[in-house]
Amino acid sequence: MQRIFSGIQPSGIPHLGNYLGAVRNWVALQASHECLYCVVDLHAITVWQDPAALAQQTRELAASLLASGIDPKAHILFNQSAVHAHLRLAWIFNCVARMGWLNRMTQFKEKAGKDRENVSTGLFTYPNLMAADILVYHATRVPVGDDQRQHLELANDIAQKFNHDYGVDFFPQIEAMIMGPAARVMSLRDGTKKMSKSDASDQASIKMTDSADEIALKIRRAKTDPEPLPETIEGLEGRPEARNLVGIYAALTDTDHAAVLREHGSKGFGAFKPALTDLVVSKLAPIADETNRLLADPATIEAILRDGARRAEALAVPIVEEAERLVGFLKV
Ligand code: TYM
Repeated sequence: MQRIFSGIQPSGIPHLGNYLGAVRNWVALQASHECLYCVVDLHAITVWQDPAALAQQTRELAASLLASGIDPKAHILFNQSAVHAHLRLAWIFNCVARMGWLNRMTQFKEKAGKDRENVSTGLFTYPNLMAADILVYHATRVPVGDDQRQHLELANDIAQKFNHDYGVDFFPQIEAMIMGPAARVMSLRDGTKKMSKSDASDQASIKMTDSADEIALKIRRAKTDPEPLPETIEGLEGRPEARNLVGIYAALTDTDHAAVLREHGSKGFGAFKPALTDLVVSKLAPIADETNRLLADPATIEAILRDGARRAEALAVPIVEEAERLVGFLKV
């Protein structure tokens, strides 16, 4: 059975993009893989996080993942800072990855923007830690949204350079699993921008905890064009907002853009948006209810994370120790 690793940052409430691009696929892959899913709090602090909020956001995200269907008994759910092996391997990878490689990362360029001199050095080396997250388990498959593709290519470059420099065949190549019609969910306010936790406009994203009324309002206000939906996917060309809403509908009904257009093509948004709202509410409301139920008992959530961390550690420590031996560290 192939081993899967994936992670999500506790830097805010997860949104529909996180769910459709990642979490929903994580749940499905549990049937056929050995899975480790991680709340990546070490990654979150690459930008400022209020300490009290971070701890609570970590609990909330864990609750949301459990409510979505992550099975912490058959698989492993934990928070990153609890397994120090990630950091030990990340340091080695800081010394394997090249400045030039990291300089090319589009996500760093986007996040740093014009303020490059003033962002944390952690934000720059972020992809090295991400490579360590995966490779410290020798995981070979990584289900993510489309925005993580470049980071996973970098992880493969790091694995290859490590193997080459130390003359070994120790780290495997990993395969990005970018799945389904919603691998890149766009902002509801601008179909050319990714839906993101850090968007300034609250109206740009549907949060996993939004009420039915909030979801209805956001979809009603979502930017569209005046044309009705086309009947074929070619007709979505140059219509990013229409493509986005159709993609969300397709993901939630387990179909694709073409099937949605066969059913809804030629309808105006006045008819399509209410159908989409009903669908989103019917999927998210039970998850939000279950998340709230779980959050009433934080000790249980923490016990689940602790147990996950203990089992993750048992897998990671022998691998990081072997990496350290290959590098030449004296074991005393
Ligand atoms: P993060 O926390 O930004 O997002 C978590 C997952 O959600 C996906 N995603 C999206 N998918 C579709 N449309 C969107 N608009 C959208 N926004 C986010 C992301 O692709 C991701 O799969 N660097 C990672 C976390 C990470 C990680 C890892 C992932 C740390 N270590 C190791 C995989 C393996 C991140 O910031 O995800």
